[in-house]
Amino acid sequence: MKIGNKNLIAGNWKMNGLKKDLSFLHNLLLFIKNKKLKSTEVLICPPFTLIDTFSNLSKNTPLKIGAQDCHFEESGAYTGEISANMLKNLGVSYVILGHSERRGYYKENNHLINSKIKIAQKSGLKTILCIGETLSERKKNSTLRVIGRQIKDSLKGNIDPMNLEIAYEPVWAIGTGRIPSAEDIFLVHAFIKDKLDSFYGKKAKNIRILYGGSVNSKNISSIFGIDNVTGALIGGGSLKISEFKSLVTQSIKY
Ligand code: PGA
Repeated sequence: MKIGNKNLIAGNWKMNGLKKDLSFLHNLLLFIKNKKLKSTEVLICPPFTLIDTFSNLSKNTPLKIGAQDCHFEESGAYTGEISANMLKNLGVSYVILGHSERRGYYKENNHLINSKIKIAQKSGLKTILCIGETLSERKKNSTLRVIGRQIKDSLKGNIDPMNLEIAYEPVWAIGTGRIPSAEDIFLVHAFIKDKLDSFYGKKAKNIRILYGGSVNSKNISSIFGIDNVTGALIGGGSLKISEFKSLVTQSIKY
């Protein structure tokens, strides 16, 4: 269900994508042009290496291009890193921050993610903060406690709710084909919405709350039917053009 603004369908390509995958983009751009999307915003977050090309080809189209991460400083001696300013310079609109793969493999914590959100927003990027519990946290009934802490600590200080989206991604649902029950998604999204309302008051209504983790063309309709689900963050399902087009088409109804 969308509240005021459009649903967001975001494809996270992770470490996938080569030059030959430009055909995906051409196909998607044509599809979007013909669909005349009124209720849905479509975002693709390719790897850094394809951002410039994707961004150039999507200029003056409704398709948005995003990044999957950025550094926490504006510039400096950080070999191999990419700053938010550099992304903005390439025409990027969004950056995903705090994805559980970055939290897990690169030990990113809420404090670091908070710095990244701030620098990204300062550079003029919209930020998608990912949060979610692990399976053992869920089994211990700690889901809401963990999510509450992730939100509180990642959004500490001066954060602009107008440039913020939240993606609830249970870690155990990512790439596994398993998703929480509709009731569980409902409860977590309602909890997140409450938190955001208490932080930002009226401005919180601009923040979309995406669900992510094994979203596919068979389950997206039921997920989008849940209150306070205003978008989806899609990994595997965003890599195949036919599947991604089906996801976008189905999201238009909500
Ligand atoms: P998945 O990934 O759709 O492949 O489960 C989602 C994500 O990690 O954002």
